[in-house]
Amino acid sequence: MKKLWGGRFTKKTDRLVEEFTASIGFDHLLFEEDIRGSMAHARMLGACGILTPEESEKIIGGLARIRDRVRAGEIVFSVEHEDIHMNIEKLLIEEIGPLGGKLHTGRSRNDQVALDMHLYVRARTVEIVELLARLQQVLVDQAERHVDTLLPGYTHLQRAQPVRLAHHLLAYVSMFQRDAERLMDSYKRVNTSPLGAGAIAGTTFPIDRRMVAEELGFDRIYDNSMDAVSDRDFLVEFLAAASLIMVHLSRLSEELILWSSEEFGYIELDDAFCTGSSMMPQKKNPDVPELIRGKAGRVFGHLMALLTTLKALPLAYNKDMQEDKEGLFDTVNTLTGSLRLMAPMLESMKVNGEKMRKSAEAGFANATDFADYLVKKGLPFREAHEVVGRMVLYCLQNGKTLGQCSLEEFRRFTPLVEADIHRVLSPEHVVESRNIPGGTAREAVLETLAEKKRMVAET
Ligand code: ARG
Repeated sequence: MKKLWGGRFTKKTDRLVEEFTASIGFDHLLFEEDIRGSMAHARMLGACGILTPEESEKIIGGLARIRDRVRAGEIVFSVEHEDIHMNIEKLLIEEIGPLGGKLHTGRSRNDQVALDMHLYVRARTVEIVELLARLQQVLVDQAERHVDTLLPGYTHLQRAQPVRLAHHLLAYVSMFQRDAERLMDSYKRVNTSPLGAGAIAGTTFPIDRRMVAEELGFDRIYDNSMDAVSDRDFLVEFLAAASLIMVHLSRLSEELILWSSEEFGYIELDDAFCTGSSMMPQKKNPDVPELIRGKAGRVFGHLMALLTTLKALPLAYNKDMQEDKEGLFDTVNTLTGSLRLMAPMLESMKVNGEKMRKSAEAGFANATDFADYLVKKGLPFREAHEVVGRMVLYCLQNGKTLGQCSLEEFRRFTPLVEADIHRVLSPEHVVESRNIPGGTAREAVLETLAEKKRMVAET
């Protein structure tokens, strides 16, 4: 089969070279974007008098028919035509004759592939922001149900201070909010049209770059043709944002895995989101959060791979840049798959509030409050810390919690303790006394909850 660029060649391309250099095996995923971009380009060529209006119409019609055939699964792309761009151009020439060869006037695959990638990432960015909003909605709903469910907050994975489950879940809402903001910020740069940059230096045809950009919904055009064809920063930004989302998903996953273990017993994941063991009949494994946790690694890998590919590349387009695609597509798959599963899994999980509360009571998570109590009675904090530490040791040696000690026992350690101590040390009082913005008191949590609800509703 004759190559679209065959003119200056005297020999057939080596078969292995064809296979090695072809990207059609993966960039066929760009076919919608490619056709959409070509249609806009053809319309502009017509409007600028570079093609006649009839020629432009015929090309657009031919592209529409090819799009339908691809969608219907009627087309097998060929490795001989290397990539999606040349496959479609070849199909167009077959469809409407030599006129199809006019489509590429004033354009290069270099600005074409850059355009396709911008269109693709722009659409995925919007989808991911929507998926984040859906996940935040589920977290907010669970938080609303669990304003009064108390559990220990942990530092070093040791019980630290009790918190409301709502407070814990809302921390993730904040993380995913930053993620959405990051994506929307990079959207500005994604929404810039490179078309018209040609291979590197622009084109001799009197094209209208702004017209194409406008038709395709871009806010602006690249102001430098060399930058336009060699910029892949927007992909790095996307992969970086995706990596951070995977970090957040993996932290959440890890907590779900821990919390659903028998040792914690805080939650139970729905059967629909777990799998069994081929040998051990009793097992119910949290495969989904484990895999989300595991898949974070491949996304970080794609980010690192792209940075490494771009490092020290001379301007402008280099074939190396074809390597930007597989990692991106895999990232989109991995990320959207993870987000799509995380939401219903959280929605359907059962919370064992009693177990959480027991742990909140058991682990000296109120020790800081005891120290603060003594400080409020005039003892310097460092001395209070020492007194409470000794009393914790006493409790450990006698197998009881602070709350289980009698007033008389407290007074063996300090005369400052009064009858209100048991109330002060209850988990409810402990969380309630942190009534500052961002704290875990009911009022503070409800305020954050209301704000997040508004935020999610606006997305
Ligand atoms: N398949 C190529 C890519 O993904 C398209 C651009 C090719 N341009 C070129 N001059 N070989 O990067």
